[in-house]
Amino acid sequence: MAELSVKHLLGIKYLRESDIQLIFETADHFKEVINRSIKKVPSLRDITIANIFFENSTRTKLSFELAEKRLSADVLNFSASQSSVKKGETLIDTVNNILSMKVDMVVMRHPNPGAGIFLAKHVKASIINAGDGAHEHPTQALLDSYSIREKLGDVSGKNVVIVGDILHSRVALSNIFALRLQGANVKVCGPKTLLPKHIASLGVEVETNLRKALEWCDVANMLRIQNERLDISYFPTTREYTQQYGVNKALLDSLKKEIVIMHPGPINRGVEITSDVADSKQSIILNQVENGVAIRMAVIYLLASKIKQ
Ligand code: CP
Repeated sequence: MAELSVKHLLGIKYLRESDIQLIFETADHFKEVINRSIKKVPSLRDITIANIFFENSTRTKLSFELAEKRLSADVLNFSASQSSVKKGETLIDTVNNILSMKVDMVVMRHPNPGAGIFLAKHVKASIINAGDGAHEHPTQALLDSYSIREKLGDVSGKNVVIVGDILHSRVALSNIFALRLQGANVKVCGPKTLLPKHIASLGVEVETNLRKALEWCDVANMLRIQNERLDISYFPTTREYTQQYGVNKALLDSLKKEIVIMHPGPINRGVEITSDVADSKQSIILNQVENGVAIRMAVIYLLASKIKQ
């Protein structure tokens, strides 16, 4: 049986293109499963997974939990805000205590970049990074590429622009790695203050004019301003940001072709995207969320099969 080249999913940076294709083929199978009347398979009855979230989440947390339950794994949910982390317990002690309850896999969201990499070096469990600060969000990038593949048939050769706060976005970095690995052409677009200085070294082009970026692309992935990570103001006012980098129906309709609109969520309606775009037929935002469950089932299933060896 084909297997992943990695024991953990810490970032797209550590994957090969063949890993991504294997995850997609496995997700195709699970997508068919979750559309049956009985949406569950017994594959992981012998696996226990802890979801440990040190940062807020709606989509990722629920999607992982549902994916684990659809695979029949036993599931523990840990929220740092209600735990003994508040009493000063370290990350390694917290996780080792959880693992001593015979847990096989940890899904972790953490505000610090590299938290999953650090944990993988110090504990005996398979680690899945569910978002580490402004670093990586690998399952988001996988579900994004999978949604492009579903909508346009392939990712290779497609023109994808990622718009907004690239500087603070783990979704942007993971998407750049994933899209480049699959042969897509990638541009980033936003105010210069929100574009990392050396971003071009990742093989992407920089465009500060949104209209030009939209005229070029097949897909626009609109990102939220990561206000929780902004220590200073990176643009004059939200209204001016929206005027220059927000996508609205009039702008979309003025383009010569119909592009695909994506957003990882949560959306700030009226800031980076208007409601009539987010809810339009060009938007695949809710398809992304649906595909997240199949992608996470595939990642968990493939990593669990390495634990069982
Ligand atoms: N896309 C995403 O990571 O959303 P949540 O923060 O709600 O999990």
